[in-house]
Amino acid sequence: MALAVLTAAGSGNRLGCEGPKALVELAGRTLLERAAEGLADAGVAALVVTAPEHDLEDFRRVLPGHVPTAPHVPVVLVAGGASRQASVAAGLEALPEAAALAGVDLGEDTPVLVHDAARCLTPPEVVARVVTAIEQGSLAVVPGLPVTDTLKEVAPESSQVGPAVLGHETLAGARPGGTPAGSTEARLPGEACDGDTHPEVRRVVGTPDRSHLWAVQTPQGFRWSVLLRAHEHGRDLAASESTAATDDAALVEALGLPVDMVRGDVLALKVTTRTDLLLAELLVARRPT
Ligand code: CTP
Ligand code: MG
Repeated sequence: MALAVLTAAGSGNRLGCEGPKALVELAGRTLLERAAEGLADAGVAALVVTAPEHDLEDFRRVLPGHVPTAPHVPVVLVAGGASRQASVAAGLEALPEAAALAGVDLGEDTPVLVHDAARCLTPPEVVARVVTAIEQGSLAVVPGLPVTDTLKEVAPESSQVGPAVLGHETLAGARPGGTPAGSTEARLPGEACDGDTHPEVRRVVGTPDRSHLWAVQTPQGFRWSVLLRAHEHGRDLAASESTAATDDAALVEALGLPVDMVRGDVLALKVTTRTDLLLAELLVARRPT
């Protein structure tokens, strides 16, 4: 029997909503309800849900101690932390309580999922694939899809983008803010001059081989003992989103333990921006019932 931490304590800055993102409605139902029900539909026995500290009461109205459509699935609400990683760590502390409410024996090998409420349309089949992989011997499993875009590595925002240099010629005028077109002034690559900084232009420094790259989704699944160890080991990173791990599997990788990949689904998209919300609305409208 799998258990889950459902992360919902974010504020949704990039969505630009009033109040927490998890309480935003998608075709009449909150992201939070949809995500919790998806986990329950997939057979998850109990949930710990992370909520913003000041919104715990609103969350309790949506999830009154259990998943609304699955009263046999208990929900324990906890206040989240300063980063997603910190929220998951807070959720893990409450997992024994959730397991006890569901009558599940929480052992070292029990499959534990960590899922983003923002991925509220994740099909139960994806959840099942992750749980099955853990039950069949994986220590940690992530769902994902091969990337379809070509990806570029870019230089840090702080680095200046100067005019491109081709041989001895300066390709001035090829980008906004550069030396005026027609200038013959040559420059060495990386050599800065006044007015070269152009905040909207970043220099490409590499093109990774796309055939090895997958975009990762949630729920991610772990053996309970592995997830606990990974979070204990990475604890010092959790204080701020700028240092925190962006997914739990990265904390397992940092322990030197293997992480496996199973196929995700386009429906497991993360609602991050307005465009994502619009896309999710279209997907819900077209979903067979
Ligand atoms: N999350 C959390 N605790 C935090 C930050 C995020 O539980 N301190 C949760 C979010 O509620 C979300 C998931 O982690 O379900 C993924 O985070 P993200 O999509 O970044 O959501 P937000 O942090 O809310 O959005 P933003 O970064 O745009 O503010
Ligand atoms: Mg965030």
